[in-house]
Amino acid sequence: MTVKEEIEQLKREKNAVILAHYYVPDEVQEIADYIGDSYYLSKMAVGLEQQTIVFCGVSFMGESAKILNPDKTVLMPDPCADCAMAHMADAETIRRMREQYDDLAVVCYINSTAELKRYSDVCVTSANAVDIVRALPNRDIFFIPDRNLARFVAEQVPEKHFIFNEGCCPVHEQISPEEVQKAKAEHPGAEVLTHPECTEALCRMSDYVGSTSGIIRYAGESSAEEFIVCTENGVRYELEKRYPQKRFYFTQTEPVCMDMKLIILEKVLHVLKTGENEMDVTGNVRKEAKRPLARMLELAGTKQTAGPARG
Ligand code: 13P
Ligand code: SF4
Repeated sequence: MTVKEEIEQLKREKNAVILAHYYVPDEVQEIADYIGDSYYLSKMAVGLEQQTIVFCGVSFMGESAKILNPDKTVLMPDPCADCAMAHMADAETIRRMREQYDDLAVVCYINSTAELKRYSDVCVTSANAVDIVRALPNRDIFFIPDRNLARFVAEQVPEKHFIFNEGCCPVHEQISPEEVQKAKAEHPGAEVLTHPECTEALCRMSDYVGSTSGIIRYAGESSAEEFIVCTENGVRYELEKRYPQKRFYFTQTEPVCMDMKLIILEKVLHVLKTGENEMDVTGNVRKEAKRPLARMLELAGTKQTAGPARG
């Protein structure tokens, strides 16, 4: 039996479902039941009928799935796969901000630890941050941890006062506008599609800025046939599969999240076989971190129990 066949068999035997982010290696995306961006995966994780979720992504994703589904088993193929940005804020600064502003909402990008979420008022992802921040009654917004996504949201919600935090995604932050210019010179007809975790300079020279799913959707809807894609290179798999007639280019230094690439088929098979690497979030952290996650799902109006396998 191949590794893929063994995974399929164990999945059936153990009543398990595989969720994967678009940034994991192609062969893992191939065997996943549901593939999507952070928002899609967090809403799909709620209401799945299987008892075990194998989460092919980094730890904050598995953590969120566990917090939202405390009675399920969430297995992480590699427990060391972590998001650097998830740690780039701290509880003490949140406490100080709350003292300083009476009407503060702490808005926490889902790319954060459960420990940060528990002190926040609402979670957001890059797909729903603008709508959720706009819908909040508060005027003062402390947006953690990503300063780039915060700036992108602040530009679209000028009626709010933003306090920025100095965190960023090292993968997206390093996509260089100079390399994008070079790619544009080579492909003058190509549109530039950019994730809001990228720098301001890069966003300004882009034709579209949006979440990973937004980028995939836009590429399908646009009449352009070539695109320079400014996000993690795992998204190429879905883009080429969905739109085989279109061309997708990345910058010469391809953006790669090494943590996402730790998720390989053999590790998926291993956790299915052994039940190892179970995600555990307990006690007050779980209870308190659930509130902002549930509020996100509520404000985004998407408590869903079934849906497409991609998003
Ligand atoms: P989205 O999945 O929300 O597009 O975020 C990208 C990302 O960096 C996930 O780690
Ligand atoms: Fe974190 Fe960036 Fe990797 Fe996403 S791409 S998991 S934000 S380090």
